[in-house]
Amino acid sequence: MRFTPTTDPATAAQALADGQLAVIPTETVYGLGAQAEDPVAVARVFAAKGRPVDHPLIVHVRNNAAVQGWVRSVPEYAIALMDELWPGPLTVVLPRSERVADYLTGGQDTVAVRVPGSPVMREVLRALGEIVNDESVGIAAPSANRFGRVSPTTAQHAAEELGEALADGDVVLDAGPCVVGLESTIVDCSGSAPVILRPGKVTAEQIEKLAKIPLADSTNTRAPGTLASHYSPAAKVRLTSIDELAVSIGNQTTGVIAMATVPTPPGVVRISAPHSIEEYAAGLYRALREADSLGLRLVLAVPPEGSGLAEAIRDRLQRAAHE
Ligand code: TXA
Ligand code: MG
Repeated sequence: MRFTPTTDPATAAQALADGQLAVIPTETVYGLGAQAEDPVAVARVFAAKGRPVDHPLIVHVRNNAAVQGWVRSVPEYAIALMDELWPGPLTVVLPRSERVADYLTGGQDTVAVRVPGSPVMREVLRALGEIVNDESVGIAAPSANRFGRVSPTTAQHAAEELGEALADGDVVLDAGPCVVGLESTIVDCSGSAPVILRPGKVTAEQIEKLAKIPLADSTNTRAPGTLASHYSPAAKVRLTSIDELAVSIGNQTTGVIAMATVPTPPGVVRISAPHSIEEYAAGLYRALREADSLGLRLVLAVPPEGSGLAEAIRDRLQRAAHE
């Protein structure tokens, strides 16, 4: 491993200013960041992940004022979303401005922007802005996993995923486990009504209430990267009900993810037993990774019931289970 591990946001900011990559913590998952206007560094992000170049990146900025230069226009309904939900686990897709290069968006006319809430990530953005003397500086960052794999929720997981692809001078910034544990909610605000492209902690109900117009259907919208199969561990993931789980015949190569109230059938390995939906989300990706590190062949997951964050968990489990 040739990267520099650190807990100091200023070290990550300096690396980004120097054209290096930095693994950065956000409240959702860890990202692999490059300064958004550095084409060479951004190309390394795609290469490190093994990600097709037509899968656009999210540009992270410090605050709502900094978003303005990156977008051409913001529809009325999106203003309340941005004011109320940022900084936070929300990404908004808007018509892009001249500032956004083709290499960030895969040539699309829109750009995904996010003002992250993690204090450490915010400090990276502030410090980078100071070094390059531009408060609206952007950090382009996808989740810090190999393409199609499970997103990392700790610095160690990110280093396991991408450490080999990092080089001298690149930095891995450790700020502990991510609080949310699932990627941000993505809302396309480039049309006449908001469309949810990826569910997350920010819920459809919250968005509809703030936007004050009904959400549009997502079926016709191109959401590159939100593929049916995604977030996959090496182990096979199968969704199951509480009743099915009770009669399932597992063995020591079978793992189980379910709320703590659901009993573990004999013989299987319990890899997650959360007490709340929040805990389920925060621990899901860790559990999927643990399945692989234990060499499990099969993970039986009982999806949580309910709306909001539970929906986002079901979305990720379905993609992880998709073959
Ligand atoms: O929580 C998150 O969003 C994390 C942290 C690091 O911010 N980032 C993340 O990035 O999940 P990534 O690249 O793994 O997922 C972003 C998704 C991709 O599916 C991408 O195709 C989609 O957002 N996306 C990016 N720009 C878009 C655009 N202009 N239009 C539609 N979808 C877009
Ligand atoms: Mg990702």
